[in-house]
Amino acid sequence: MTPRRTSVVPQIDRVQLTTVAYADNARLAARRRLYAATRPQRDLQALAMRHLPAEARVIVDAGCGDGHYTARIRAERPAATVLPFDLSPGMLLGVPAPRAVADIVRLPLADASVDAVLAMHMLYHVPDPDAALAELRRVLRPGGTLVLSTNSRADKGELRELRAAAVDGLDGIRYPADTTAHFALDDAPARVARHFTDLDESDLHLTAVTELTDPAPAVDHMLSTLAADDAAAVAEAERRATAIVRERIDRDGAYRITNHTGILSARAPS
Ligand SMILES: C[S@@+](CC[C@H](N)C(=O)[O-])C[C@H]1O[C@@H](n2cnc3c(N)ncnc32)[C@H](O)[C@@H]1O
Repeated sequence: MTPRRTSVVPQIDRVQLTTVAYADNARLAARRRLYAATRPQRDLQALAMRHLPAEARVIVDAGCGDGHYTARIRAERPAATVLPFDLSPGMLLGVPAPRAVADIVRLPLADASVDAVLAMHMLYHVPDPDAALAELRRVLRPGGTLVLSTNSRADKGELRELRAAAVDGLDGIRYPADTTAHFALDDAPARVARHFTDLDESDLHLTAVTELTDPAPAVDHMLSTLAADDAAAVAEAERRATAIVRERIDRDGAYRITNHTGILSARAPS
């Protein structure tokens, strides 16, 4: 049998998103494990909440994933109605109702019916992020608040290099194109300003460094981005990545990953 070639798939491929990357929250949870070794420690949920006006009563969490932000808002803003939506049914399984499967570009909501929307680390998966921003503006009342987060093009460059080295020459592995570049922090303000006003960029540059003395979180992060057509190839990629990270730890005392993430908020025009 001809081996399946290793290939790069678009990070906006809906089948890949709903059946592999976000079939459930396991891969997202693997990536979150890096944050335990990241400094400074930042509470992104608390930072996002600071951008949400206290008087917001109807809040949409678009691309809510496993409800990371929804849970925090529901706990801290009991008077608000939080409506979480996600493209992937598997991600919503642990999210308490109300919740719904929906694409951010076609939300089942009336015009001007919500006070605030979140789009956290998700617009880079949407084929047309401008269409998503236009849809968020449609559902927001005039003066309503958009809060979004994404990563810069430089984010976790070390892990992209690690993956490239680990899969080099192997057959039977698929992985997404540079995940966040499709809607990167670097151009988010200009793209948001086409649809929204009063941009708040105070949390746009949240740089941090992850220092690992154990290869596992970096290797698990890499594995969480691979779609395995060939288990032996993935095992070989894991072996190589572990050896590379172990060698860096032995040489430098730690394996360091630089994180460049940010939050941006804005208002729907009146
Ligand atoms: C990186 S996760 C972020 C989850 C959550 N917002 C958070 O920050 O913890 C991206 C999520 O966006 C969802 N997603 C991707 N494309 C979407 C779309 N077009 N409409 C709605 N959700 C989408 C994925 O299924 C996934 O759950």
